Amino acid sequence: MRKIPVTIPYFTDDELEEVKKILASGWVAQGPMVAKFEEAIAEHEGVKNGVAVTSCTTALHLAMAACGLGEGMDAIAPAFTFVATENAIVMTGATPVMVDIHQETFNIDVEKIREKINTQYEKKDGKLVNKDTGNILWGIVPVHEFGLCCDIIEVNKIAKEYDLKVVEDAACALGAKIGDVHEGGFGNPSCISFHPRKSITTGEGGMVLTDDDALAKRMKELRTHGSTVSADTRDKGHGFLLPEFNEAGYNYRMTDIQAGVGLAQVKKFEYIIAEKRKKAALYNELIKDMLPEFITPVEPEGYYHTYQSYVCMLNIKELGIADVAAGGQFRNELLQKLEDIGIATRQGTHAVHMLGYYKNRFGYKPEDLPNAYACDHLSITLPLYVQMTDDDQKYVVETIRKVLDER
Ligand SMILES: Cc1ncc(COP(=O)(O)O)c(C=O)c1O
Repeated sequence: MRKIPVTIPYFTDDELEEVKKILASGWVAQGPMVAKFEEAIAEHEGVKNGVAVTSCTTALHLAMAACGLGEGMDAIAPAFTFVATENAIVMTGATPVMVDIHQETFNIDVEKIREKINTQYEKKDGKLVNKDTGNILWGIVPVHEFGLCCDIIEVNKIAKEYDLKVVEDAACALGAKIGDVHEGGFGNPSCISFHPRKSITTGEGGMVLTDDDALAKRMKELRTHGSTVSADTRDKGHGFLLPEFNEAGYNYRMTDIQAGVGLAQVKKFEYIIAEKRKKAALYNELIKDMLPEFITPVEPEGYYHTYQSYVCMLNIKELGIADVAAGGQFRNELLQKLEDIGIATRQGTHAVHMLGYYKNRFGYKPEDLPNAYACDHLSITLPLYVQMTDDDQKYVVETIRKVLDER
């Protein structure tokens, strides 16, 4: 049976060579390779500082905690995202407040942010206070979903107008741009992921990018238990002296082994993105010709999509399906049939308000955030990776056509 995975990382011998050198050096925990990797990513994205950590989830937690998010506070986030966005907010002790997205871009609807602020909060002593809970609105955690930047310019305007903080969830968006500005360059701490489903990988891993030197220093301390000095700095002299610990921090350190893999991956990054963009364009053409039941992903004028994932929507009108719930069932059956044939696909991501913890805690209903609910039920991620051939892509689209025709 011909097998097509949803994605596979793109490795060559370079990663292996880097890892061999690191193992031979005897220094495998956070050290010089992590520092080099931070520099390489920050330089690529045109940002002053990179703070490497164990995942994007820990990057989000670290950045938000360092920017003062905690108990008794709210953070606004989109409802359609990987659950880690909201989980990281919960990890700080704060409460996520979800708003809806645009179905076309899968990104946060900035008008819904304004609406939420204006309906849910009132000004008291210069702060925005939640009318139901008394929580103070800390800020916004926008997501650049699937490799396409959200309208971060407008998010920044709202944040300025209401004096709110912004931490960007850019897990999927390394290399994404608006105009010439890379993700990471919009003036806020921004958090990226190096999970294997992302464009480049370190196995697991993440990084916070920031132009703010003081914030970077604080995050570097917090990622290593709140220590004022890191282990590799201690190794350069006075190694016997224990550092000071002025804050209760975490162990969020990336290893030098991971950073070595990351450094080899950075060199391939432009190639990977160029290949993925080419393949996304081919999918667009094939789908236009063969699958009128599919709505292809958009790249708005001036935006540069990196296609971490190539995510389509099912057009239920075209399919003659009555509603989103029935569409979801149809979508799942389609994905199952494809899996049985050997083609791996996935739903785009989750409507977080419908996931057990959040639904039970806040009593959300599907219709509270209808676009997120629709994208949860109707989105389909098609396989996309560098090693995929044109023929593989044709096979995927033709197979979907066949499965749809057999219904
Ligand atoms: C939008 C978003 N945020 C956060 C994460 C969490 O990233 P990590 O797996 O590196 O913790 C992901 C991972 O898929 C994601 O897609």
